[in-house]
Amino acid sequence: MAKELVFSGVQPTGNLHLGNYLGAIVNFVKLQDTHNCIYCVVDLHAITVWQDPAELTRNIREVTAAFIASGIDPKKHIVFNQSQVAEHAELAWVFNCVARLGWLNRMTQFKEKAGKDRENASVGLYAYPNLMAADILVYRATHVPVGEDQKQHLELSRDIAQKFNNDFSESIKVHGLGDKFFPLPEPLITGPATRVMSLRDGSKKMSKSDASDYSRINLSDDADAIAQKVRKAKTDPEPLPSEDEGLKTRPEADNLVGIYAALSGRSKPDVLREFGGGQFSGFKNSLVDLAVEKLGPIGAEMKKLSQDSAYVDEVLIDGANRARVIAGETMNHVKDIVGFIRGR
Ligand code: TYM
Repeated sequence: MAKELVFSGVQPTGNLHLGNYLGAIVNFVKLQDTHNCIYCVVDLHAITVWQDPAELTRNIREVTAAFIASGIDPKKHIVFNQSQVAEHAELAWVFNCVARLGWLNRMTQFKEKAGKDRENASVGLYAYPNLMAADILVYRATHVPVGEDQKQHLELSRDIAQKFNNDFSESIKVHGLGDKFFPLPEPLITGPATRVMSLRDGSKKMSKSDASDYSRINLSDDADAIAQKVRKAKTDPEPLPSEDEGLKTRPEADNLVGIYAALSGRSKPDVLREFGGGQFSGFKNSLVDLAVEKLGPIGAEMKKLSQDSAYVDEVLIDGANRARVIAGETMNHVKDIVGFIRGR
């Protein structure tokens, strides 16, 4: 059995928000107690859509700062930016030759991001899920904490791992690398906020790219901004239900209760036991207090770290040096398995 190892990534594309935090980063922090973890700022993924270079540099540091400010320990675990470990791109090329066009054609995220003008999307945006599979499998990671929206990409990673293991099964045996070289990575999609929705429209995912800043709470928002956004959040005229069932047809209420539950570490039924039957105004006041209490210190620490880019860069360089050792070993095996010639 492969030793358990956690890997996950966040794109440095600006506006890190509550969805990223509750859907992913909170779980990254928890997993540190039970697993070895590798957390990556995926800058190679970011450039699948045009990024202003100076802004990209700032955003790489900002995501790193958010990891540290949220409680990720870069000494005990590994934190780095993807482009410093060339093996990600190298394994992605091998996977470009394993994955099938038909598989990529089914990816809903590509369809959403490319929109109507698909001919004009970058080739990188199309091949993005193969790079994502390489990110995980270059460490032979077994568990991947993500939000709900990444589920399809994780399934593709499993398909790629499986096809590689099958296509090269003989060679894997010949090189004494067991029956299956790559583990099939398990998605970890946990907690009451695996899909945080826009504060303006309960049918749309909270996203970095939404034109309205009122649709999301950014990790860098101050207390006033958080309060304004929560107070303006769309709701319906009914009081909050007392049971979970009552949220089913009320996406905005469901979203706010899920956010409250995730921020307080409670379940949605438990939150409804306290607030059920009450008006949104009271609930929103409590949500503002809770959000400011939980996010305020993170935003403040991020601000502090933004003044110390030398420290942040040092964390990334140190993490990349440690990541490269693991990734290099995998890549050497992959080269042997595929039949390439390499120096020792
Ligand atoms: P990205 O950068 O879009 O998002 C980072 C993490 O945040 C989660 N997330 C959400 N969770 C709940 N509600 C939301 N509204 C919400 N929006 C985002 C995402 O699910 C993700 O976990 N392709 C990935 C990055 C990536 C990666 C990887 C992840 C690249 N390689 C390897 C895991 C393993 C992405 O674009 O995430």
